[in-house]
Amino acid sequence: MSLEERTCLVTGASRGIGAGIARDLGARGAEVVVNYRSSDDEAQAVHDDIEDGPGSAVLAQADVSDIEAVEEMHQTAHDAFGRVDVLVNNAGVTVDRTFENMTREDWQWVIEVNLGGMFNCTSVCYDDIRAAEEGRLINISSVVGQQGNYGQANYATTKSGMFGFTRTLALELAQEGSTANCVAPGFVRTDMLAEVSDRVKQNILDRIPLGRFAEVTDIVGIVRFLAGEESSYMTGQVLGVNGGMEW
Ligand SMILES: NC(=O)c1ccc[n+]([C@@H]2O[C@H](COP(=O)([O-])OP(=O)(O)OC[C@H]3O[C@@H](n4cnc5c(N)ncnc54)[C@H](OP(=O)(O)O)[C@@H]3O)[C@@H](O)[C@H]2O)c1
Repeated sequence: MSLEERTCLVTGASRGIGAGIARDLGARGAEVVVNYRSSDDEAQAVHDDIEDGPGSAVLAQADVSDIEAVEEMHQTAHDAFGRVDVLVNNAGVTVDRTFENMTREDWQWVIEVNLGGMFNCTSVCYDDIRAAEEGRLINISSVVGQQGNYGQANYATTKSGMFGFTRTLALELAQEGSTANCVAPGFVRTDMLAEVSDRVKQNILDRIPLGRFAEVTDIVGIVRFLAGEESSYMTGQVLGVNGGMEW
């Protein structure tokens, strides 16, 4: 069961961590479903890079918070590759405000994408993951789900929620020999981090023992490991990749 024999659906694969994961899995020969919401050109570039290497790719535009769009994405995956062995729930958004300024809409949107999207995508891929030889559910959480973070009550709630979901799905998938695990990155240099002010970035840096932000390449290796056969006996875990931040 090498990655060459795996079909992997990566949500939010047009930019940042998801694009890195998709390219990495493709470079190892996997069939990759490249999901994205709005960055057409970036998603196309990820698709083309994979197709230029040993892997295969198909584009699947869908807002993960929209169940009908997610069902269409799943159909696209089946039309192209016939199955999904590995689902990487990576798509995520932030709407940062201190709690006293946070509106119901700020709360709802982040919950809908980060948790609702995880539910929708897992729901449509659930039978595939169970039927696969060693199916994999991989959820991209955050150190913020472990520590909390000033101005991110909505986001931190979604990232903590992923832990309980992962643990429960690990129990429910175990009988079929499939696994569910969570990766909790620290602060990674992507567009998401670029939105944070320099002052806040410096405060964060001061709390990172390794003294630097993560690069996307620091995160993709653990996802490759979880997607492959070497992680067969690991399930229900939260793997921190955070430069040594305590929680
Ligand atoms: N960067 C960090 O410091 C950090 C740290 C820990 C965890 N994480 C987590 O890692 C994941 C990726 O973060 P990132 O930094 O790579 O973010 P990013 O650079 O902002 O990229 C976000 C990706 O998610 C997609 N996306 C957003 N909303 C979507 C939706 N409703 N439906 C489908 N796709 C959607 C975007 O697609 P389009 O551009 O096509 O809309 C884009 O490909 C997130 O879950 C985030 O919480 C990030």
